[in-house]
Amino acid sequence: MRRWLAAVSITMVSVLGLAACGGGGGSTTPAGQSPAASGGKQQVEVFSWWTGPGEADGLQAMRKIFEEKNPNYTFFDAAVAGGSGDKAKALLQSKLQASTPPDTFQGHAGAELQGYIKAGNLEDLTSLYDELKLKDAFPAQLVEQISVEGKIYSVPVNIHRSNVLWFNPAVLKDAGVAAAPKTIEEFIAALEKVKAKGKVPLSIGSEWTVTHLMESVLLGSLGTDAYNALFKPGADWNSPEVTKALENFAKILSYAGDPQDDWQPAAKQVADGDAAFNIMGDWAYGYFHNPPEGGLGKTSKTDFDWAPAPGTEGTYLWLSDSFTLPKGAKNREGALAWLKVAASKEGQDAFNPKKGSIPARKDADQSLYTDYLGDALKDWSSNKLAGSIQHGVAVNQPWLAAINEAVGLFIASKDAKALQQGLADAATANAQ
Ligand code: GAL
Repeated sequence: MRRWLAAVSITMVSVLGLAACGGGGGSTTPAGQSPAASGGKQQVEVFSWWTGPGEADGLQAMRKIFEEKNPNYTFFDAAVAGGSGDKAKALLQSKLQASTPPDTFQGHAGAELQGYIKAGNLEDLTSLYDELKLKDAFPAQLVEQISVEGKIYSVPVNIHRSNVLWFNPAVLKDAGVAAAPKTIEEFIAALEKVKAKGKVPLSIGSEWTVTHLMESVLLGSLGTDAYNALFKPGADWNSPEVTKALENFAKILSYAGDPQDDWQPAAKQVADGDAAFNIMGDWAYGYFHNPPEGGLGKTSKTDFDWAPAPGTEGTYLWLSDSFTLPKGAKNREGALAWLKVAASKEGQDAFNPKKGSIPARKDADQSLYTDYLGDALKDWSSNKLAGSIQHGVAVNQPWLAAINEAVGLFIASKDAKALQQGLADAATANAQ
């Protein structure tokens, strides 16, 4: 059986005039201007959306190794704030269109990356793979997600899990919820109990976090095979099973607190004991666990705990961050130097424990992945796989934009039937 979702192609996201804001201790530049060489050193412009607490820690760890190994280059942090990269990806599209790409940018393995490849934005990295023997380093199915016609176009740095239920053990205990809910029904019953205690049952952030929640509820309601089938051509998004799943989603969302600005403040509500549950990717682990400055310095199992999102035990709803070499990169050699660090065991083992992800490489030092990350490694090797919607695996960027629009309308209308029609229309218009 094919465990990984077939990737689909992309056309383009809409172009917005957004400014790069930098972050994570990096220097900044207004959008459209390329960073100049500094002090005789050539800058390497690395584009991501890892600016916020938790997010930036991993990037800084990898940057440190890059700078140690490449004294002739300066790392230029061109990160654009905003979880899940909605703002970053829109700015990136305008840079690609204007032929002023960064030297390297972060893109998700799967349908999202396939879009950049098919649009002709990326250089083929097969020779780098040959030089560094990378084909053996990464799982074959992952390499397939970043390839077209046998050519490989990016370097995956990690595997993230989307379907994690984060919870505050004390808030659950106080509400009389004995254990993390395993099914959607148990989840709804637990949310009701927390509500009766006056705490926020479920925290949410900006709009994309609601689509993120929806993908876990779809998976938990439909099961893995039916979820994966949704992204095949001709899939039936109008089925009664999807109707039921979206009714579950509407019910669960009715327990959400006030939307927070992004995923970090929503996750923090759980860690602070103001909210019981949050469904978020495991980048939240880096944020909870990393020491103050970057993270919250919280104690796992006491301040926060985790379980698979209800109904999804045994399935890894996965995504993978990868770095690219855009055609026309100003500092191509510098970008290749960055990709070498990103591809290395040393780079991945510095990055991932802080990022809250497990390494894409198969030969990483397993002893570095403890606590939540130990569970993640174990599950990754044994679970079924399903591809994330919000984070680039299952749907291309135009399809995701249409899904996000339907979810945005639903947040205002609460009309689950209209949401289903919107999702069905999005699939009809974009599935290939
Ligand atoms: C995802 C990305 C993760 C993390 C998350 C929240 O799209 O793959 O690495 O950054 O967004 O911002």
